[in-house]
Amino acid sequence: MDNNLRLQYLDAMGITVWLPRDALRETVEIKKVEDDFPFISEANNWEQLANEVAACTKCGLCATRKNTVFGSGNKTADWLFIGEGPGQHEDEQGLPFVGNAGQLLTEMIRALGLGRDEVYIANIVKCRPPNNRDPHADEVASCHDYLQRQIALVQPKVILAVGRIAAQTLLNTDAPLSKLRGKVHTLDATPLIVVYHPAYLLRSLLEKRKAWQDLQFAMRTLQEQQ
Ligand code: URA
Ligand code: SF4
Repeated sequence: MDNNLRLQYLDAMGITVWLPRDALRETVEIKKVEDDFPFISEANNWEQLANEVAACTKCGLCATRKNTVFGSGNKTADWLFIGEGPGQHEDEQGLPFVGNAGQLLTEMIRALGLGRDEVYIANIVKCRPPNNRDPHADEVASCHDYLQRQIALVQPKVILAVGRIAAQTLLNTDAPLSKLRGKVHTLDATPLIVVYHPAYLLRSLLEKRKAWQDLQFAMRTLQEQQ
């Protein structure tokens, strides 16, 4: 008779069996506190993920970074903004989108009637590529699991791919940004909208209008879901 069944019989008969600790661990399913309080396990998952990223050496970018840039904002946000990777200021501060492009992104978020702390902001790669070059395919691949776990934890209602690199990576395509914007794509059943990167808008002010159109489009997409 298997040990568990034997214990159940004995228990039904009112016989208490004292077991060594190890045996107990095998036979009794220990109820974890997380089963009753899922937010505890959620917090653990975030902490675990942040620790893994902070210590990560999975690709060559770890050699030149000052800080990893994990992401910031509301961990249960409806809106998830995903950029390409940290630049100089982000690398120095360990926070996403805090340089010039970041200020413009913050304005864009404000134009939506939201604050930066109401949305979640992350990047495709968590370490700065030297001289702000595009991240290489192997670096993107090494880092991808972290982003996927962030998406799974945030469970956003809409994802905004900010700029060409984020859009092409998330949608697994090499189509140009002009072909990708203005459409509702999906990423694992979550609507994904492609918007111009604010760094590009800083160079090309005339395109700002298009960026605003992209954001309004994202807003309508989110409203249609509700
Ligand atoms: N550009 C990005 O794509 N991400 C940042 O965090 C900053 C600038
Ligand atoms: Fe790790 Fe990503 Fe940084 Fe590469 S870019 S070292 S995979 S955290």
